[in-house]
Amino acid sequence: MRIIDLRSDTFTKPNDKMWKQLRSLDNSNIGDDVFGEDPTVNALEEKAAKVIGKEAALYVTSGTQGNLVSLLSHTNRGDTILVEELSHIYQNELSGATQIAGLEVKTYSSNKGVPNFEELSDLIENDKKRDSSIKVICSENTHNYHGGAIIRPNVLKDLHKFVEKYELKLHLDGARIFNAAVGLNIPVTKFSKEVDSVMFCLSKGLSCPVGSLVAGSKNFISKARKYRKMVGGGMRQAGIIASFGLVALEINWIQRLEEDHKNAKLLAKGLKNLNLPIEVNNPETNIVIISIPKEIRIGKIVRKLSDAGILAFNIDKQRIRFVTHFGIYKDDIEYALEKMEMLLPDLF
Ligand SMILES: Cc1ncc(COP(=O)(O)O)c(C=O)c1O
Repeated sequence: MRIIDLRSDTFTKPNDKMWKQLRSLDNSNIGDDVFGEDPTVNALEEKAAKVIGKEAALYVTSGTQGNLVSLLSHTNRGDTILVEELSHIYQNELSGATQIAGLEVKTYSSNKGVPNFEELSDLIENDKKRDSSIKVICSENTHNYHGGAIIRPNVLKDLHKFVEKYELKLHLDGARIFNAAVGLNIPVTKFSKEVDSVMFCLSKGLSCPVGSLVAGSKNFISKARKYRKMVGGGMRQAGIIASFGLVALEINWIQRLEEDHKNAKLLAKGLKNLNLPIEVNNPETNIVIISIPKEIRIGKIVRKLSDAGILAFNIDKQRIRFVTHFGIYKDDIEYALEKMEMLLPDLF
């Protein structure tokens, strides 16, 4: 059966050039990274810092680990952080910030990831009254559960000014920050220059099998390196997997994300044309989310699609997510839409 896997861009597999790069390695290209002696990891970290426009970068096992070591590096136990209510850090990272970093986590609401500055001020002023200490505000860009929405650089700039006023730090969960840059056709540094630290994933649209990077000042990265070790992220001869990232960060590979965005737009348009009682977002990047009326059982829809080879992910009881990525082509989207046209009307 033909399978169109739209569950996540984490299902991507490496491209030919990445495999070639891997095959070209020998023992001279690897070393103990915990001692800072893996030349391939070092090259990746240097390249990442350059591409993202920060002093230094650190290779970590995953986006979740990258967010955690960033928060550990910016805070002390007992501090408070502010995260957006639908953010990955809050929804999906199993309270690592609380359980491991000892932080109190408070949420702020948003319009597709864009905060309301009055609400943020109120949260901070109220917190001051009870002598607690908010130290970090986190933002997510693109915003996964807001359908890959892009938070514009001018919003990050305002947020940057805001955190400076209150002497806080701004951490960006930029798991898909290159989607944001390609989506607006601007350099990624327009986003990263506004934040104190940024995490981005190699293992999503950039198609690496594993790994993420955190980037920031040299001082921040030296702390993050220590915390990476603490949470079990010291990986020794990690150059073997880091080598994929050297290809992923080439400009033409980053630019390929545009194809995913076009496919997401095609999918959203096709879904709207089905004239079903569903809401479909206008995707700015590679994530399409449909919202289903309460009375319809979402599990049934996802199952029926999956039985026909169209794999999607139910985020919650009312929303299904489709993510376009490397390995999904225009004709896959057209095929998925044909299947949906056949199957979905009966379920509403
Ligand atoms: C916005 C966002 N942040 C962080 C992560 C965590 O990345 P990882 O799965 O590598 O831990 C994800 C993963 O889907 C994500 O979507």
